[in-house]
Amino acid sequence: MTYQELVQIPMIKTMLPGPIASRIIAQDEEYTSPSYTRFYPLVVRRGKGAIIEDVDGNLFLDFTSGIAVCSTGHCHPRIVDAIKKQSELLLHMSGTDFYYAPQADLAKKLALLAPGTSPKKVFFANSGTESVEAAFKLARYHTKRKQIISFFGGFHGRTMGSLSLTASKTIQRKGFGPLIPGVSHAPFGNCYRCPVNMTFGTCGIACVESIEKQLFRHTVSPDEVAAFVVEPIQGEGGYVVPPLEFHRDLKALAEKHGILYIADEVQSGMGRTGKMFAIEHFGIEPDIICLAKGIASGLPLGAMIAKSEIMDWPKGSHASTFGGNPVACVAALETITLLEEGLMDNAQHVGEFLFELLLALKDKHGLIGDVRGKGLMLAIDLVKNRESKEPAGVERDAIVQACFKKGLLLLGCGLSGIRFCPPLIIKDHEAATAVKILDEVLSELKG
Ligand SMILES: Cc1ncc(COP(=O)(O)O)c(C=O)c1O
Repeated sequence: MTYQELVQIPMIKTMLPGPIASRIIAQDEEYTSPSYTRFYPLVVRRGKGAIIEDVDGNLFLDFTSGIAVCSTGHCHPRIVDAIKKQSELLLHMSGTDFYYAPQADLAKKLALLAPGTSPKKVFFANSGTESVEAAFKLARYHTKRKQIISFFGGFHGRTMGSLSLTASKTIQRKGFGPLIPGVSHAPFGNCYRCPVNMTFGTCGIACVESIEKQLFRHTVSPDEVAAFVVEPIQGEGGYVVPPLEFHRDLKALAEKHGILYIADEVQSGMGRTGKMFAIEHFGIEPDIICLAKGIASGLPLGAMIAKSEIMDWPKGSHASTFGGNPVACVAALETITLLEEGLMDNAQHVGEFLFELLLALKDKHGLIGDVRGKGLMLAIDLVKNRESKEPAGVERDAIVQACFKKGLLLLGCGLSGIRFCPPLIIKDHEAATAVKILDEVLSELKG
């Protein structure tokens, strides 16, 4: 990319999809699983920072980070350099059966980074769903209890254990049952669309209370519950930030009954919210934390951090051939260094700026019912009517498509949300460009 191109981002010069993209999409459709959720016809050639170039030379501003993964931006030179160096030394040996420094170093780093003072240990996997599976298994193993409680709107992955916890969209579960027995779902602290029809401030955190008053009275005995599995901020479910009291009361309930508190930070973790872990905003030390996505700037890696006293499973009880791959581990170590050197602060700073711009956009466009999130984990929620808050899902889809046509990459979340999860390297002017494009699209939609 030349400097001149860089200052004209985004820059769309062909029909979308362009001719080369159209060819690749046709091939993909013939041979690739139809279960994938491609929302617009973007065929990526390369990425640099917050810029994506497609195969026809169009330049896009990326506010998706490959689903909240490329936290340090696409192909950050220091990440690429760390990968190159490691790949000349060792590509794989399996951390399950052998030792190597990158995995031991990353385990130490993550154990020390995790909130709270209790000593921690780390299990490595390749993805978010695998880190959730590991947490699910460890919770049952350690507590010798079978029941798990997760939350409506939550997304935890698509393998059988994590899918049993997931309660985001029915299409994700339909046809795959029976799922793992022993999982119940409870209402999440979504104050914009309260699941128990109350108002924050006078509700007494009725969603958490309903676990005691409904689930524990009628269906699940608390002494059989191994864990609560909860996203500190719901991701796929709509970037829903619960009130402080939601996590506080849930943690108190967990402690009262000897239930483990598992924070699924796969989407919210690794600096995205302006803190290393989103649960730090709520002042809680989880028993177990699940990580993936942003941990290694694009290389596949998952991690499950648990208090050492909880990670008491014996040799051979759980492992992974590829988990903790040395190349992914060095990418993660460099990612964390970059986050600590300034990207986490940048997420906080640019996040606040973007939040203000989105609030101003809400003043201008009645379709925006809510602006929410933390750091660079932000969303707008589109509604047909601000009073009824009826989700404007069709309009949301049209807006995401129209932004793509203008060179801004966005993703939906929840019923009618649009999420903003750009790389944590973005600058104020890129946030302003994204909001300007969105403003144009919203104005055009109004006609
Ligand atoms: C909170 C959360 N947990 C787990 C997962 C599953 O991660 P993966 O797709 O890497 O298996 C996701 C993916 O979106 C997620 O957002």
